[in-house]
Amino acid sequence: MFSKKNIEEQILVIFGSNGDLSRRKLLPAIFQLYLNNLLPKKFIVIGTGSMEKDETANREDVKSAIVEFTPDSKHFDPEKLDGFLSCVYYQKVHNQTESDFGVLKNYIDKLSTDLNIIRNIIYYFSIPPFLYEVVANHLVQYGLNQEEDGWKRIIVEKPFGYSYDTAVALDQKLHVGFHEDQIYRIDHYLGKETIQNIMVTRFYNGFFEPIWNRKYVDRVEITAAEKIGVGDRGGYYDSSGAMRDMIQNHLLQVLAIVAMEPPVIFDSDSIRNETVKVLQALRPISIENVPRQVIRGQYIATQVDGKMRPGYREERGVDPNSNTETFVALKTFIDNWRWGDVPFYIRTGKHLPARVTEVVIHLKHAPHQLFKQLCLTHPNNMIILRIHPDASIAIDFGMKIPGAGYKVQNVNMAFKYADLTDTKIPEAYERLLLDCMAGDSTLYARADAVRTSWKFVDPIIQAWQNKHDIPLYFYECNSWGPVEANSLFDTEHEFRVPSE
Ligand code: BG6
Repeated sequence: MFSKKNIEEQILVIFGSNGDLSRRKLLPAIFQLYLNNLLPKKFIVIGTGSMEKDETANREDVKSAIVEFTPDSKHFDPEKLDGFLSCVYYQKVHNQTESDFGVLKNYIDKLSTDLNIIRNIIYYFSIPPFLYEVVANHLVQYGLNQEEDGWKRIIVEKPFGYSYDTAVALDQKLHVGFHEDQIYRIDHYLGKETIQNIMVTRFYNGFFEPIWNRKYVDRVEITAAEKIGVGDRGGYYDSSGAMRDMIQNHLLQVLAIVAMEPPVIFDSDSIRNETVKVLQALRPISIENVPRQVIRGQYIATQVDGKMRPGYREERGVDPNSNTETFVALKTFIDNWRWGDVPFYIRTGKHLPARVTEVVIHLKHAPHQLFKQLCLTHPNNMIILRIHPDASIAIDFGMKIPGAGYKVQNVNMAFKYADLTDTKIPEAYERLLLDCMAGDSTLYARADAVRTSWKFVDPIIQAWQNKHDIPLYFYECNSWGPVEANSLFDTEHEFRVPSE
């Protein structure tokens, strides 16, 4: 549960409020903040979209989105929902029609005057990426970025750019009307409680940090496995692929938090300075090394539990000859004093057997293995940071099996988040929206971090595009991806199968 911050009165404008993200995530998250009494007293949400509808119809739509996408919606008080709906407004805006932004400006002016709310405004870009610069320009045309009458912030969804060059170009365009501390690049992984807790685990406790380095760590695995396929997002996904969809943003940010140095103070700049240093220290994977260090895969039609799951190429919106990857496993290194030569393995894929996100720190063996022959399980010590599901931290170590002799078995000591609190762990979007409302950008990606991650992934994507002999491995749904992924390990190791 997070505490109420000193949040000023404000207006949240959502571009694309009738869309999927807004209905599934944003509106339920704002409602949850309202229920938890975390919103300022003077606060309104203005939804915009190309659909023509009046306030009553919009409130009905917002209500149905909240009821449909709030897990325990049966239990909340209808009066609370009505109370929330009274601060929800709507204005039709066609994002590509400049004059619609004049209408929006008048609407905001009128509401802020009638309701006596200062024009502190967040503009949430919940719209397709090609519209980011269009909407930012239109806001500038009508002075909606001006801060004389209140601060202005924009929240930009991922993907932020499509490559290093396009990310730089997008930044330049956004910076025409907004300076860096007005731009909030959202990466919902950073809003996850369990990701933030990695910093607390490492920097609050005295006993993790001394072993969190090349002297004791053998390798690190970061896995984000999903059970679902691309579903109805084929159109978007086919031009993105797992590298752009998951690795460039979410998983490199996770890696940066796992590997960062302790910041001197706990503020936005200090933390982000440290995470960006990790990204800058990533050893580039040259185009020639891509086949050795990166394995890509694509799921094929498979019968699972008596039902046929379509292959990726048969999904709606996907090119039937597509070479887009739905699975990536890669091996990388962080060239600095702490991590020199420790391999980091990152793996993500769709249609894998479980939905699991976890970071596994594999520790080195004890220098002299007295019990090796007697160990019934793998003799490694591990620290497992489970992000999802069952948020937890577990430590794996060997224990003597009671009885004669010295047979050893690995056991697991685990702390589960659910045991810490009865309150529901807040959704990532709740946390991130609240932070932006309070002007705290710690958990948002800074421009230099986004650029640096693109610099790392660009050569891999280029190699796949230009070197046609790099294989795309096919894998069956409900498998752990192509077996070739294990070729990334040059020892007896292989990717861990996350236990449920
Ligand atoms: C999104 C990706 O950013 O993250 C999706 O676009 C992916 O493809 C999702 O499914 C995973 O997020 P989470 O929070 O479910 O792990």
